[in-house]
Amino acid sequence: MADALLDVRNLQKSYKQPEGVLNILHDVTFSIRKGEIVALVGPSGSGKSTLLHMVGLLDRPTGGEIFLNGHEAGQLNDKEKTLLRRQYLGFVYQFHYLQSEFSALENVIIPQMIAGTDKSKAEEKGREILAEVGLAHRYDHRPARLSGGEQQRVAIARALIKDPALLLADEPTGNLDPQTSDDVFNMLVKRVRQQGIGAVIATHNMDLAKRMDRVLTIQDGVLKAL
Ligand SMILES: Nc1ncnc2c1ncn2[C@@H]1O[C@H](COP(=O)(O)OP(=O)(O)OP(=O)(O)O)[C@@H](O)[C@H]1O
Ligand SMILES: [Mg+2]
Repeated sequence: MADALLDVRNLQKSYKQPEGVLNILHDVTFSIRKGEIVALVGPSGSGKSTLLHMVGLLDRPTGGEIFLNGHEAGQLNDKEKTLLRRQYLGFVYQFHYLQSEFSALENVIIPQMIAGTDKSKAEEKGREILAEVGLAHRYDHRPARLSGGEQQRVAIARALIKDPALLLADEPTGNLDPQTSDDVFNMLVKRVRQQGIGAVIATHNMDLAKRMDRVLTIQDGVLKAL
């Protein structure tokens, strides 16, 4: 696709195991346009996290190509991948990986500061975005003093703070109660739409999936458009 923000072609991932090769992704091909929000659904073990990790340049594909804004990204070295990730990608992990020794606000702004943003500017934006996810009263709490859902919201804020071109979110509302899940999802979509961010959001929640622009379904590592 000529105007694709993300173009994934014939992506494959397999793992060598003592008992043989385990093929997890089979020739996965799809594109995402700028500003498009796409749901990724499929049963547990179907390959959603594996696919998001490949696209997020966190793991190396066995075959195929990944183009981010026209750059072939799948086979770059680690340093080049880090730069592309910083430039284009926001990632919300299924298991959120917050730094336990830092506060909610610090968790959100540290990646920004590593990337060169001035501390006071990062703090101002960090507070604003934590308030958007309903955590204005929890800036100074460390992860151990946040509920599971609050930790997940901090992870969402951390991914959105830099207004990435592409947001990859792996069950971002998986730990939240239905009402909070709805609120956080609405906030996420509002911000993504306002900023023209493209997004791939893995979810088991079909009600949420139907509210996105398109649904991709994965089953046993094979992708089909719904
Ligand atoms: N390092 C690995 N080595 C071997 N197999 C793996 C490895 N990582 C994942 N798998 C297998 O790949 C398959 C897909 O896993 P993945 O985490 O992508 O599923 P998922 O769709 O995200 O599931 P869930 O909805 O439970 O999060 C699973 O069967 C898993 O056991
Ligand atoms: Mg998963």
